[in-house]
Amino acid sequence: MLESKKMRDGVYWVGANDWDRRMFDALIPLPDGTSYNAYLVQGKEKTALIDSVDPLFADVLMNHIKDVAKIDYVISNHAEQDHSGTIPAVLSKYPAAKVLTHPKGKTLLMSHLSIDEERIEVVEDGDTLDLGGRTLEFIFMPWVHWPETMVTYLVEDRILFSCDLFGSHLATSKLYSSKEEKVTEAIKRYYAEVMMPFRSLIRKHLAKLDNFDIEIIAPSHGPVHNEPEFVIKSHKEWVGEENKNIVVMPFISMHGSTLSMVDYLTDALSEEGVEVVRYDLTVTDAGRYAVSLVDAATIVVATPSFLTGAHPLVVSAAFLANALRPKLKHGVVIGSYGWGTRMADQITDLMKGLKLDMFDPVLIKGAPVKENFEALDALAATIKAKHVELGIV
Ligand code: FEO
Repeated sequence: MLESKKMRDGVYWVGANDWDRRMFDALIPLPDGTSYNAYLVQGKEKTALIDSVDPLFADVLMNHIKDVAKIDYVISNHAEQDHSGTIPAVLSKYPAAKVLTHPKGKTLLMSHLSIDEERIEVVEDGDTLDLGGRTLEFIFMPWVHWPETMVTYLVEDRILFSCDLFGSHLATSKLYSSKEEKVTEAIKRYYAEVMMPFRSLIRKHLAKLDNFDIEIIAPSHGPVHNEPEFVIKSHKEWVGEENKNIVVMPFISMHGSTLSMVDYLTDALSEEGVEVVRYDLTVTDAGRYAVSLVDAATIVVATPSFLTGAHPLVVSAAFLANALRPKLKHGVVIGSYGWGTRMADQITDLMKGLKLDMFDPVLIKGAPVKENFEALDALAATIKAKHVELGIV
């Protein structure tokens, strides 16, 4: 093991950095790569490996543990392949090792990785495992972000191995995070992309963690957090119901008319004291857009007509907002059309899962004129008034 990755005597990070990965889930750009974190925990009698790495990096993990004579347990906190994909190789090298996992994790490991049933033992919420002077406690946390996810607490060392929860897509040679660095942005980006759809459940999970004394959070992506308070506090804020005085405005413009509306409304909202975060969907990445949805109170979707409907890139942005389940409260569709359009109904329908209070759309034929700008002034005033009602202005 690497001495630079020692968390305690007998507790090591043994994962892999994926410095050059630039896309996750074939959707989310990874500007800073990512890591797949695995951890070795050695007790006086038994040794456990917590999670593994993406199978493309199996050699890296196996090299990190090449001098480990015996692994008794592989703890699988999460069956997704970026963490479980190298478990079969570990089981081959250590034929006496057993996999310990959530009951649903067992079926997923069998179906996704063809791991033999007899190599897997299930644990229950609250079960403990004595390694000899070191105790692992298993805490079920479903839907962070799969149904089988659990976290593992190392009691004596007060280390929480949190699987994807509290993670970040960030490759780094450093073991520990620092809140002054870009990790703060990276963990918010990760939360927005992966965890936000489950925020009401995560709120309960975070309350459960209040009962644990946590000195270190060791997630399965990105650096380890030895200042866990800022990570927990940030997540509590993000999963809460309180919005910020922010309008997020994804848009496309094909001939400049919709852009004129976006520009005008940006200024009008700014004059009303409302912050606007705009995204030209031809150049922005889905991760930045997702981050802005974490806190915003209102979404303004701006689209030109494309044939008779909304532009496909705007359709995608509306679909993504609906899937990510942010705490948005209000929405509206604006844009310019050529001869007829169904775009407001389309976008409203795509976002209906968010249960937004939708304002009347502002749709104009061709280029905007004086009364259209007046309609945008009125919309800005309405948004401001709604934000005042929310108590965020
Ligand atoms: Fe990082 Fe859900 O796997």
